[in-house]
Amino acid sequence: MSSVGSDHGPACPDLIPQPRRLQVGAGRFVPGKTLTFWAAPEADPAARLLGDWLAARGIGWQRVDQPDAARLRLVAAPAGTASEAYRLAIQADSIVVGAAAAPGFSHAVQTLLALALDDAGVAWPVVTIEDAPHFEWRGLLLDSCRTFISKAAILRLLDQMAALKLNRLHWHLTDDQGWRLEIKRYPKLTEIGAWRVRDGVREGGFYTQADIREIVAFAAARGIAIMPEIEMPGHATAALAAYPDLGCGPGQLSVGTAWGIYPNNYNAGDDRVFTFLEDVLHEVMELFPFPYIHLGADECLKDQWKASSECQRRIAAEKLGDEHGLQTYFINRIAEFLHRHGRTAVGWDEVLEGPITKHIVVQCWRDEAVIKVALARGYRIIAAPRRHCYFDIAVSQVDLTDVYAFDPSMGLADATGVIGGEATLWTEHIAESEMDHMLFPRLFALAETLWAGPAAKEATDRFVQRARRVTARWRSAGVNAGPMLRDDAPAETMKGRKDLHVPPAGLDQIGLGG
Ligand code: ACM
Repeated sequence: MSSVGSDHGPACPDLIPQPRRLQVGAGRFVPGKTLTFWAAPEADPAARLLGDWLAARGIGWQRVDQPDAARLRLVAAPAGTASEAYRLAIQADSIVVGAAAAPGFSHAVQTLLALALDDAGVAWPVVTIEDAPHFEWRGLLLDSCRTFISKAAILRLLDQMAALKLNRLHWHLTDDQGWRLEIKRYPKLTEIGAWRVRDGVREGGFYTQADIREIVAFAAARGIAIMPEIEMPGHATAALAAYPDLGCGPGQLSVGTAWGIYPNNYNAGDDRVFTFLEDVLHEVMELFPFPYIHLGADECLKDQWKASSECQRRIAAEKLGDEHGLQTYFINRIAEFLHRHGRTAVGWDEVLEGPITKHIVVQCWRDEAVIKVALARGYRIIAAPRRHCYFDIAVSQVDLTDVYAFDPSMGLADATGVIGGEATLWTEHIAESEMDHMLFPRLFALAETLWAGPAAKEATDRFVQRARRVTARWRSAGVNAGPMLRDDAPAETMKGRKDLHVPPAGLDQIGLGG
């Protein structure tokens, strides 16, 4: 089979991410009034999705008992096929999808949806595709704390992610400005911690455990796993407003109403803090089946710990040296707790400031040099360097070509520790209605970068042309995409923060600068 470039011609719509191998033939498949199908059990979620899509277009979707009697077949690929790989053969009279597991079937169905010709009812071009991703972790962080994001917007986002074959939603659920996750054992976390008053207006919200289960199932049906982020030891103001005894200072805190880093940390000298966090994490593990749980660990100011006699006692008793040692103790203690429960902790790259456990994955967000440091120390990493991956930053600072230039493996010959990358959508500077503007089309570049891997990526100018055509399609489907390149619009009209989110001085203990 030959590989083709992105210009498939009018007979075959452009795809993002570009499949590894795609061969376009002559003719088209037309489903007619009812499409018969046969599906292997692993293909059931993907088959349901396709059936719903057809039903919305007035086309019946009828399961048959014999594969030979079906015009569309979703069949099990040979053992040993990677779980996300798929094969798609569209002929004029049949469609055959092959995959070994639910994620592969999911990707195949997303490719089918993207290939649908919409000129005269539903039809598909005759093509053969063989496809599989380069990176295992293709993620997007959504910050539901600074701006509370509605369930409807999250479900819509999950559909958009699935269309781009992104497979990890990193969900930032707790921070200074809001605690968004219902925890039955600690009801004040959401009674108090989910709400703030800004300019006289009460704002906020939270997800009930029923909401979470619904969102997790919706994501799973699309091949997406959700990693919750429960921030510690800093970024804890909302939790401490609800349960002040867990903090370091006297006095009552209120949920944060300004952006920036707050000084309020959990009291690392108090064992009740660890009991609380373990209780919370037990409920988190019940709700989120994905093995990875993010502990934050970024931007933890140390002033309160310096002034706390209990923290100083812990530092002396455990021979931790200083407050940075105390942060490492804190994260190690929780990461080992998760490990004992069969889960893996993830932490932002500040975890490298001390002798951190190997039972942790490092998410690199500052300079790319951090990636090399983490790999050299033997950690598995998720790459999200801000100059390529921070989509809260305006397109005038980080445009599509900056995202496309991102190489999570840093050109290293051995980058097996790099499990993938993520874009981040922090929400200090955007409203829910602006999510499309910030994410698209830049998320196209991230999805393609992570799917193709560095060796298989197309030339930037060809990708830009393809992304423009796909953006036009998404816009006509109701997606309010923002500008693509920094020259596409006046900088002042571009939404989002106008700087590169440089980490504040004094936080960096690994000698890399901000
Ligand atoms: C971060 O942006 N503080 C991870």
